[in-house]
Amino acid sequence: MKIAVLAGDGIGPEITGQAERILLALRSDGLKLELEPGLLGGCAVDAAGEPFPEITRRLVKEADAVLLGAVGSPKYDGLPREKRPEQGLLAIRKELNLFANLRPAILYPELASVSSLKPEIVSNLDILIVRELTGDIYFGQPRGIERREGQRVGFNTMIYTEAEINRIAHVAFQAARKRKGRLCSVDKMNVLECTQLWRDVVTETGKEYPDVKLSHMLVDNAAMQLVRDPKQFDVIVTGNMFGDILSDEASMLTGSIGMLPSASLDDRNKGLYEPIHGSAPDIAGKDLANPLATILSIAMMLRYSFAQEEVAMRIEHAVRKVLAQGFRTSDIYEPGMKKVGTREMGDAVLANL
Ligand code: NAI
Ligand code: MG
Repeated sequence: MKIAVLAGDGIGPEITGQAERILLALRSDGLKLELEPGLLGGCAVDAAGEPFPEITRRLVKEADAVLLGAVGSPKYDGLPREKRPEQGLLAIRKELNLFANLRPAILYPELASVSSLKPEIVSNLDILIVRELTGDIYFGQPRGIERREGQRVGFNTMIYTEAEINRIAHVAFQAARKRKGRLCSVDKMNVLECTQLWRDVVTETGKEYPDVKLSHMLVDNAAMQLVRDPKQFDVIVTGNMFGDILSDEASMLTGSIGMLPSASLDDRNKGLYEPIHGSAPDIAGKDLANPLATILSIAMMLRYSFAQEEVAMRIEHAVRKVLAQGFRTSDIYEPGMKKVGTREMGDAVLANL
């Protein structure tokens, strides 16, 4: 198992550092893996003048899986768009054809009171958001800012092909089949033609999954329902932009963005695994970041890319125990708990593993 580790910027190196300690411990326990560091994002801009240099492209092409911290920093705000760290992230997703982004939102019972919702609304929450990642308005052409008739005009293009919708729908139906058998597809078909096609194609694909109960919801209602009654959902499938927003919203139901892992997969289970949060420049370098989202991301990696379900569950179990023992980074801290830094949180997970 060859794993490319792209720590990135901000808190990236701190959180991937803890995940690497876990992987190395598993290696000394007999798991055959190799870790190869690489540069992506702002650190790559500094070293090589671009966010996704050729050497990193080769590294991730050869690797079986990629572990990513996070990229970005206000330091690069003045750069042209194609040189910005976030472009590295979009480019790597496109390069590896990572069209399926899986974002589980699970509420650990110990964090029920950290959630912004009442415990009875979120207790035992376990939903999965499947977000399409290589299409939609983030990639559509034409795009830009132009001067027209004496003023500036900004524009982007929302676009999906039938084939793109079909393949993400399959991923979502298959995930739903392994869970509670319910899939909710989210669109804005009342206003946007592109998402009318989305609804039509998901419905057609659903004919192959008679065992999965398919429903449809408009995105504005979905945003509301996620806070009103999130447990009505099992699997949600949606496009790139709606998925970006809804998955951040769902993350807060679980207590902290610092708890949520993600997997981005191609059609052969090669994947990129990363926490859903960003580089958190406000707390970078202070040993404050919660490394659990990144540690849970390696559990997803072992599950999806390497079929190591048992090891994945060991990691997830160790995280649960750490929470049960009262270890809390500041983002999930409550009085009476043991406040720890990034590294001590890593220590605690390792000890339980
Ligand atoms: P962010 O997710 O980095 O931070 C939002 C808030 O959550 C901040 O208050 C931060 O301190 C906190 N937070 C995030 N991760 C945490 C963790 N592990 N433990 C404790 N607290 C945590 O989002 P923001 O501030 O909008 O973006 C910062 C930079 O990250 C920007 O340059 C942005 O473009 C980039 N970004 C990168 C992503 C990626 O690499 N996948 C995703 C989202 C943003
Ligand atoms: Mg986002």
